[in-house]
Parts: sequence; structure tokens; C-alpha cells
Amino acid sequence: LHVAVLMGGISAERQVSLSSGEECAKALERQGARVSRIDAGRDLANVLSGLIKPDVALNCLHGAWGEDGCVQGVLETLRIPYTHSGVLASALAMDKDKSKAVLKAAGLKVPGGGLFDRRQVATRHVIDPPYVVKPNAEGSSVGVYLVREGANDFASEVAAPDWTYGEKVMVEPFIPGKELAVTVLGEAAGPRALTVTDITPVKGFYDYEAKYAKGGSIHVLPAVLPPHVFEAALRQAEQAHTAMGCRGVSRSDFRYDDVKDDLVLLEVNTQPGMTPTSLAPEQAAHVGMSYEDLVRWMVEDASC
Ligand code: DAL
Ligand code: MG
Repeated sequence: LHVAVLMGGISAERQVSLSSGEECAKALERQGARVSRIDAGRDLANVLSGLIKPDVALNCLHGAWGEDGCVQGVLETLRIPYTHSGVLASALAMDKDKSKAVLKAAGLKVPGGGLFDRRQVATRHVIDPPYVVKPNAEGSSVGVYLVREGANDFASEVAAPDWTYGEKVMVEPFIPGKELAVTVLGEAAGPRALTVTDITPVKGFYDYEAKYAKGGSIHVLPAVLPPHVFEAALRQAEQAHTAMGCRGVSRSDFRYDDVKDDLVLLEVNTQPGMTPTSLAPEQAAHVGMSYEDLVRWMVEDASC
């Protein structure tokens, strides 16, 4: 089997994707697959239809272009079976505002707040602190700012001249408590949630460094939670996978306010990280699926 591992790309999450891609490529090679490592650039269609002509594309891209339906559209056009979600679910999940509308309509609790002009956000509190300011369509906590209660400053970074993450930014009330994540495999019988991980960043919040620096965060899995919360997180991640129309692997991220006993779904990720510090492979291992098993499952699930 000839697998093209798509990695790198042109988004702010390029380095994360190179790490995910390399891990996946090595796992495939250990299983005897023929692997082409493709640093996905704007010549991707030519590369895939020219010399490479793979049987399957393992999409290890994150962020703009690789996670938002664009590359999925190229693969559909080339009729190359590919892993993870298709065009529509990818585009939807990449837009936090639009996904919240769909998730809410499916009966899931999502954060309040909404989109605001970045220049307003940089000069006043558009909602009461504490709140989180984030790009509407990025991953890995790139461009995310936390404005604490009693803070006199604003998320002024979003008005910087080199801000490239859109004119509107998502502003959401900060939900205290725990950060939880649930990986879902879209199996033939229906979506299957693996387990719940409780993530504690070693310092600050679960930002880029906490996500990818070794020892940047502590993962407890299965998370120690009241049973009804654990169960709700599993079922909600499955419902979210279905509501968004996801395929293959997805990962839903939650906040759980343990004082108010309130579980809130932050977002659905259609291209969950596969790096050495990532959550999805760790959850797979917990249910007895090795990294190799997970990657093989993805490749076998690929379609177009
Ligand atoms: N955006 C990163 C890769 C994730 O969701 O895991
Ligand atoms: Mg994300």
C-alpha cells in the first residue's frame, strides 16, 4: 500500500503538523507500508497526480488550508481516498462561530460570547472579564489570549499590525475548572468515544507551549470525574461528531466547571494532533490501540 502522508503545509500550525506527520509516517513504515512524505504546498495537486499517485492520503495537516476543507476538496477532485473528515465537516469545524451554531442546534452546550471586531476587543472589555479571545479559525491555541478578572488591560495583541487571523475574533467567557478532551472514532456501527482526559497545564493555561513542550501539561486518563460528567463528555463528543458530519477521528474539547457542575463543549477538532504529546494517540493506547493500530485504522477508514 502506497500512502502519501500530507504534512507541514502553510498554516500557523506547520511545525505541529510536521511532528504529527513524521510520527504517522514512521508508524506506517513499521507496518511495511510504502510511504511518501509530502510537505503540502500549493503545488499539492500536481505532486499527487504526477509522480506520486498514492493509494491513500493520510492527512496530517492542521489549521488553515489542510484542516478547513481546501485540501479535502483537492483530494476529492483527484479521487484519492483520504483520512479524517470531508470538505463540509472540515470547513464547518474550522469556523468556531458557525460550529457553535450547529452544535447548539444539536442540543449541546457551547460557550456564550461571539464574534467581535478585533479593534474593539483591543480597546475595551466587550464582555465581562474573565474571558478568552481567540481567532475564529485557528488551532493549537495560536493567537489565544486570556483576559483575567480585574484586568486593566485588553487583548491588545489582536489589533497589532501583524495580526493575520481575521478582522473578527471570538470572545467567550472564561469557564473555570477543568480542561477535558475526548477522542472519537467514527466506526461503521457509529461514533465511539475512547475516554476522557483531564489536562492540567503546568503553568498558565493550555496554550501552545503547554500543548507541545515535553512536560508542558499533565494528562490524567481516564479523568477522575463524577460518573455522570464522564459519561456526558463521552456521549456529547459522539453527538458532536455526528452533528458536525465528521468522518474518521475527531476530538472534542470541553471545559468542566466543577463548582457549578457545568460541562461546556468548546469545539470539535477534525485533524487531532498526532504528536508525541498529543491526546488522541494517548487515548487510543488507553483502550488498547497502539499508535500503529490507530494510524492503520485511519488509513483503512479513508475514502473520497
Ligand atoms: N489543532 C491541534 C493539532 C489539535 O487539535 O490537536
Ligand atoms: Mg482546536
